[in-house]
Amino acid sequence: MSDRLLKIVMHVVRLMLGCTFVLSGFVKAVDPKGFSYKIDEYLQVANVSFPDWMSLPLVLAVTISCAEFVLGIYLLLGLRRRFTAVATLIVCMVFAIISVLLVIFHPVHDCGCFGEFISLTDVQTLLKNVVLLALAILLMRNPQVAKPLVPEGWQWFVSLYTCVFIFVFCLRSVYYLPLIDFRQYKIGANLRDMVFPSREDIKPEEISDFMVLDTLGEDQTAQLLFDDKPTMLIVAPLLSDASQGVTEQLVVIDDWCKDNGYAIYCLTASPLADVREWCYYNDARYPFLIADHTLLKTMIRSNPGLMLLRDGVIRNKWSCNNLPEIEDASFDEKKLEAEAGGNGKILLKILMWYLLPMLLMIMLSNLIRGKKKKNAQNPKVFDDLKEDSNDTDDLNNNIITTKKTKTMRKKIVAGNWKMNMTLQEGVALAKELNEILVADKPNCGVVICTPFIHLASIAPMLDTSVIKLGAENCADKEKGAYTGEVSAAMVKSTGAEYVILGHSERRAYYGETPEILKEKVNLALANGLKVIFCIGEVLEEREAGKQNEVVAAQLKGSLYDLTAEQFANIVLAYEPVWAIGTGKTATADQAEEMHAFIRAEIAKQFGAEVAENTTIQYGGSCKPSNAKELFAKPDVDGGLIGGASLKAADFKGIIDAWKPA
Ligand code: PGA
Repeated sequence: MSDRLLKIVMHVVRLMLGCTFVLSGFVKAVDPKGFSYKIDEYLQVANVSFPDWMSLPLVLAVTISCAEFVLGIYLLLGLRRRFTAVATLIVCMVFAIISVLLVIFHPVHDCGCFGEFISLTDVQTLLKNVVLLALAILLMRNPQVAKPLVPEGWQWFVSLYTCVFIFVFCLRSVYYLPLIDFRQYKIGANLRDMVFPSREDIKPEEISDFMVLDTLGEDQTAQLLFDDKPTMLIVAPLLSDASQGVTEQLVVIDDWCKDNGYAIYCLTASPLADVREWCYYNDARYPFLIADHTLLKTMIRSNPGLMLLRDGVIRNKWSCNNLPEIEDASFDEKKLEAEAGGNGKILLKILMWYLLPMLLMIMLSNLIRGKKKKNAQNPKVFDDLKEDSNDTDDLNNNIITTKKTKTMRKKIVAGNWKMNMTLQEGVALAKELNEILVADKPNCGVVICTPFIHLASIAPMLDTSVIKLGAENCADKEKGAYTGEVSAAMVKSTGAEYVILGHSERRAYYGETPEILKEKVNLALANGLKVIFCIGEVLEEREAGKQNEVVAAQLKGSLYDLTAEQFANIVLAYEPVWAIGTGKTATADQAEEMHAFIRAEIAKQFGAEVAENTTIQYGGSCKPSNAKELFAKPDVDGGLIGGASLKAADFKGIIDAWKPA
């Protein structure tokens, strides 16, 4: 798959997963109590018992809603990409397992994936979760494709704001009633039609099992629904669990209803003994009707809740936490009826409270990031460049560098043994080098990158304060059935600290594309290795004057999805392919020109400070005789040495180029 196509596919995958999680988290947060009833069903099937005071189902409902919503936002904004990909995969795997169990055992009716918003059959749930799992696996393979919409420094703020928003929204939905009623008994529903359908075109899902009995067991449904008087229903699924704080208010409402020609009943599923006790202790004189427990929980997410019926139509609903105040002027007959669309407006307002600050935050953070980048490109010291010595005469005028003098960034000379040396020869060379460098401390960092088979034997014999160890390659896969490959974790486990990636020989002979290299880089960094990343043009490209373009594309193709923190573990090695192993060195000026260009590109992407701290080595027929001249250039920070690293004396000669004459 081409790079471009892969990017498009991955964006679609990420957005699909993001939208699904945001939707499923949000609809659950609209009605956490409804979702907690579903969780309660699951817990009962799984035989999990817990003390009532814990309200475990509700705690889980709020936690799951918030987690799904936050994960969805992370996916949409491309935040903490690796963590998000892993978390998404784990969640999708859990969902998939649950849906397989649903299909086999049918333990509960309706999975509850989208709360009460959408009901899916078990098979539909399984299909949905298999698709989500496939998308999550795809995302896991390419987690870094998305560019974060919010720069790193701002991400904690976005995360915190999202968590607080969704949590407070959940609590609001628990305290009051859901702002959107996903069930049948929403404001405006006609219970007469639903219970005694007169229309022929009524859909099965519109038919209700609403039924009430009086305390003698007589059916009172018709009488209740066809009463000419407006009817106030106190809905208390279980009196033993009902909030005691509102009993006095209910008595007042009862009196008001009787004085104003309203019928009033309390609907409950409690046993008669509880009804009697309730009346006795709370001075309740309103009549009681008995109904199914689940029906009552579905009618209103409050215990007790209040519901006003007129002509069989639900006109308004109140949670016990905002019952109408009798002294309040608003408790007049007309105002009792809900304002049409009132909840919609509240919901819109709440969403604006999230969306507007988020948009502002995204815009502001990107504005500041843009400014920083501009500063990084600001040719403030370009004037110094012009004034400076002949070194810069050849510099292309478009090249912008941030500093001309040698800075304190790390200088490194690294050996690349390639496919040379038996184990015994390699161990002997490493031993010799170690002794020489311990005796005569180098003025720069020294690394030797050896074939895999040498690593474990050489690692214990090196004094890492003077010489460090690296591999020449690692796999683009984490682990598993990849015969002959060696993973980044395996390299790290030998004691090696570095790995060379992107060498032109691997690009040319082993078909390593920027995409493959990106995977390798990510894995190497994830396993705590530092990467010596090679870039460079072939002869035809230089002859066509395309070297800058080629090198910029190589950087972009494999490294630009890294964060600045990750990039701090990258050493770049500019190796013009036409100079590798050919004896043909790039001139010091050619090297400097390209190194300055590379540094300017890094500044554009990661900022001036990162660029200034990046070690850029030169590689390609570097030897003791030309090392000094090359290393004297301000942007050349050492070398990646092939042939000349196979003899201790030659390698030492190059290392000594960093010593004062
Ligand atoms: P060379 O190789 O020094 O033999 O030219 C450099 C490299 O390939 O890293």
